[in-house]
Amino acid sequence: MHPGLQRVLFHERDIAARLDEMAAEITEFYQKKPLTVLAILNGSLVFAADLLRRIPLPLRFESLAVASYQGTESSGIVSFRQSNLPAVSGRHVLLLDDILDTGCTLNAVRQRILAEAAPLSIRAAVLLQKKKPRAETLVADYAGFEIEDEFVVGYGLDFDGHYRNLPVVGVLNTSSLGLR
Ligand code: IMP
Ligand code: MG
Repeated sequence: MHPGLQRVLFHERDIAARLDEMAAEITEFYQKKPLTVLAILNGSLVFAADLLRRIPLPLRFESLAVASYQGTESSGIVSFRQSNLPAVSGRHVLLLDDILDTGCTLNAVRQRILAEAAPLSIRAAVLLQKKKPRAETLVADYAGFEIEDEFVVGYGLDFDGHYRNLPVVGVLNTSSLGLR
């Protein structure tokens, strides 16, 4: 196991099998709808690349760079790293993020899209969702796996910019942080 991990939660084959299911559901829902998949970067990079290739629809792909985490805690403040939103008026938007924690990030992106554009709908798909109470408006329409409230890395998820390239998702080994 990678020294940065305390334990592995999802191996590559677990993720691939779950993405097949999610993609099938998404493909079914967006048949004959003008779809724009909007990936929230950097965290959703790997998830988006793997999910997109399983959705055989004539979709458009866009991305939006956003940051909210500092270390292992959500700062609650979502900063947009680019000033312009991709053009999504008149389209169904599927937001992709690596993980739903407090829900602040997805909520901020949704609110900004609704304030600046006129999409036909906005849904959200996340690979992981932490088990914790959150408002009903802050849920994801598609969630790969539910996890405990632990800090995880790998498969696009980072700690301080590291570990995004691990092919698995695992719990961060906080005693190995000197090894990065
Ligand atoms: P939220 O805004 O609190 O829902 O947090 C969502 C964002 O925080 C995600 O886009 C992730 O980038 C980051 N995040 C939340 N939990 C974790 C984690 O356990 N590991 C790595 N990043 C996380
Ligand atoms: Mg992140």
